[in-house]
Formats: sequence, C-alpha cells, structure tokens
Amino acid sequence: MGQRVHWSGRLAFILAAAGSAIGLGNIWKFPYIAGVNGGGAFVLIYLLCIACVGLPVLISEIYIGQRTQSNAVKAFEKLSGDKKTFWSAPGYMGLISAILILSFYSVVGGWVLDFFYQSVSFQFQGKSAAEISDILGGMLGDPVRMSISHTLFMGLTVAMVYGGIKDGLERWTKILMPALLVLLVAMLVKSVSLDGFSAAISFLFSPDFSKLSPAGILEAVGHSFFTLSLGMGAMLTYGSYLNEKEDLLKTGLMIAFLDTFIALLAGVVIFSIVFSFDLEPASGPGLMFATLPGLLAQMPGGDYLSIIFFMLVLFAALSSAVSILEVAITYFSETLNKDRKKVTLGAGLVIYLMAYLPLFSFNYWKEVKVFGLNFFDLFDSTSSHYLLPIGGLMISLFMGWRLGLDDSMRVTSGNKPLALGLMWLTRVVAPIAIAVVIYQKVVA
Ligand code: PFF
Repeated sequence: MGQRVHWSGRLAFILAAAGSAIGLGNIWKFPYIAGVNGGGAFVLIYLLCIACVGLPVLISEIYIGQRTQSNAVKAFEKLSGDKKTFWSAPGYMGLISAILILSFYSVVGGWVLDFFYQSVSFQFQGKSAAEISDILGGMLGDPVRMSISHTLFMGLTVAMVYGGIKDGLERWTKILMPALLVLLVAMLVKSVSLDGFSAAISFLFSPDFSKLSPAGILEAVGHSFFTLSLGMGAMLTYGSYLNEKEDLLKTGLMIAFLDTFIALLAGVVIFSIVFSFDLEPASGPGLMFATLPGLLAQMPGGDYLSIIFFMLVLFAALSSAVSILEVAITYFSETLNKDRKKVTLGAGLVIYLMAYLPLFSFNYWKEVKVFGLNFFDLFDSTSSHYLLPIGGLMISLFMGWRLGLDDSMRVTSGNKPLALGLMWLTRVVAPIAIAVVIYQKVVA
C-alpha cells in the first residue's frame, strides 16, 4: 500500500474534526435538550461531562488513530499484537454505527435542505407557527419530497468525500467551518438586539438545580458523546490521517472548545428569539423545525435570518455527515484493498438505499415496528443509546488499562501529572459515567 495521505497541517485537522463534532447535535439537539431540562444547571453539568468524559475519550480516539495510522478496526488489532481480539469489537461496532447513523442523519439532513429551500424561496413569509408546523407535518407525510431532499443531501456528502482526505474533506471543511462561524456570529449580532437576549443568557447560564432531574444528568453524559462524534471511530479515523508529530492535548482541547462554544452560541441565538416572543423554552425536538421558523417569520428581517439559519445548519450537518461516511470508506478501502473512489460510491449507495427504511417510517411504513420502534427510532436508539456508548466505554478502557501510562505520557509529551489525569479519567471516571448511562437505558 502506498504512503498514507495526511492532513496538510494541524489547522486542517482541527477544522475537519470540529466539522465532524459540530452538527445537528449542537444546533438542533443541544438547545432543545437544554430547554427541556431547565437551562443553566443542565448546561453546567454538560460542561463538566465534556471536560471529564468527552475530552479524555476524544483525545484517546485521536491518539489511537494517529499512533496506528489505521482504520477503526485495524487500529485496535495493531495495538493488540496484530491479531483479532476482544478489542476488535469497538472497531466493528463503530462501523455498524456509522452505517446506521448516516442513514437517519441523511434523512434529517434532507429536512434541513428542504427548509433551506423554503426559506430561500420565502415560503415562510407571513406564516404563523402553527402553519409552519403543518408544513413540517406535510413534509414528513410526503415520501417523494423527502426522497428528493435525502438524495440531494447524500449526493452532496458523497461528492465531498469523493476527492479523498486533502482534495475532498479538507478542502470542504476549510470552507464550511469558517462560513458556519460567520453565519452564527451574524445571527448572534441580531440576537443581542432582541428583547429576549438577557432572558436567554440568564436561562442558559444561571443554574437552578431544582430544575435538573437525574434523567437530565444522564442525558448530558450521553449528549457529550454524540456531540463530540465519539464511540464509533470517526475521530479515530480522522486521527489516522494526522501526522505523528502533532500535539494531541492542545488539538483535543481546541476541538472540544469549538464544539462547546458553537453549541452555547446556538443556544443563545435560539433562546433569544424564543424569549422575545415570551414562549416556553421547553418545546422539544420541534424547536428548530417548527417553532423557530415560525418566530422568524414574524420578525422584521426574519426571512433573511431564516436563510442564514438553515444554511448554517446545513453546513454543520454536511461536515458531520462526511466524517461518518469516512469511517466506512477508510475501513472498506483498506480492508478490501479497493480503489477509494469506487468504495465511496459503493458505500454511499448502500447507505443511501438503507436510509429509505427510516425515511418511510414517517409515511408508508408508519405502522411497521421492530422492538416497538419504527425504523427511524430503531436506528437512532440502537446507535446513540447502545452502540456509541458501548464503543466509547471500550475505547476508554482500552486507553486507560490496556495502553496505560506510557501512552498517556506520549499524549501529554511527557507531562506526568497531566498523563496521570488522562489515565485515571479514561480508567475510571469516563467508564463509570458511560456505564451508568448504558445501564439506565437497558433497565428503562
Ligand atoms: N457530532 C455530530 C453532531 O453533533 O451532530 C454527530 C456525529 C457525527 C456523531 C459523527 C457521531 C459521529 F461519528
């Protein structure tokens, strides 16, 4: 096999990895779960989870990829004496999660594209929140319309990955991520001028622990995982294209910081709008697709803000989707020793077709249930509730126990106190937190 391609530098890697981390999880999910869980106290716990659970696992994943320069399955085998062992499991599970997650992420990506198109063609103009809710319902009930947007979203994802690491992923994330930041800052500038801005700040940043339930705490642990793209080898795969000399501690910190910063900014923007209309913050998953466009339609200049907002969400979703696809492409092209471009088209096509299961679960196959769940919820729940946390738990244990102090010392460039910190976080703190989440899901 030829020389492994590398990112052209640290910044390129940070942008790509932050692109993976910053996605629907930040702009759609974080604000609504913060809203449902009462704001400030949830945000504080979430920050703690990012620092003590997310960050150590993030650094471990990148390290395992960087050290082995291998795909998600082979990396664990290389570090286990070049053979298949129990530790091959997180690699294979990651692969399955990637396929499952992308098949429903692409459906939601299609909704974003649809909403972007509607905002560009000013279809929200003058509509009430209830009317926009009906638009959402109408879209979900129309498989042909959803199929068009899903095809476009998946087509864009495949096209971006097709060029490879440097001419595909790196080139696109270098454009999408700065653009996303500019769009979000534009939204923030508008939010500051809104009546609801100070209410949004106090909702998100003054903790009231009486509003936080144990389920909210578990949700914060789980979300810190999803939002940093952990547990399925995405960060590991990106790390495998990273030059072996790069400092991982600073890099990991930077990625986690960017991801958190964007989630908080998205929260401030969305709640400034919600509070300007004296609405309740706990409107749930419909916050972004129904509530927000409905409110923007009633604001001066709101039509344009809607365009900016959905473009921003689209960029975030695309730069995450490409990282999910890359896990499968790196694995299959290396394992089957096949041309990367062909594998990209093949894997893209398989996932594209699989996505019809979740897509039809809103219309044709509404009544089809497996384990009591429709395909959309089944794919989401199997991956987010089981595969990602179990994968993350294994990665953490692998780093803490199997690799141990020597490898933690490599990550921290020989700084022993920091290395000990990383080792104990991956040995004990992160595994316990993740195990509690898995246990709760299994018994719930
Ligand atoms: N981190 C992404 C988000 O917050 O939307 C989702 C994601 C991407 C999860 C890549 C897992 C992954 F491997």
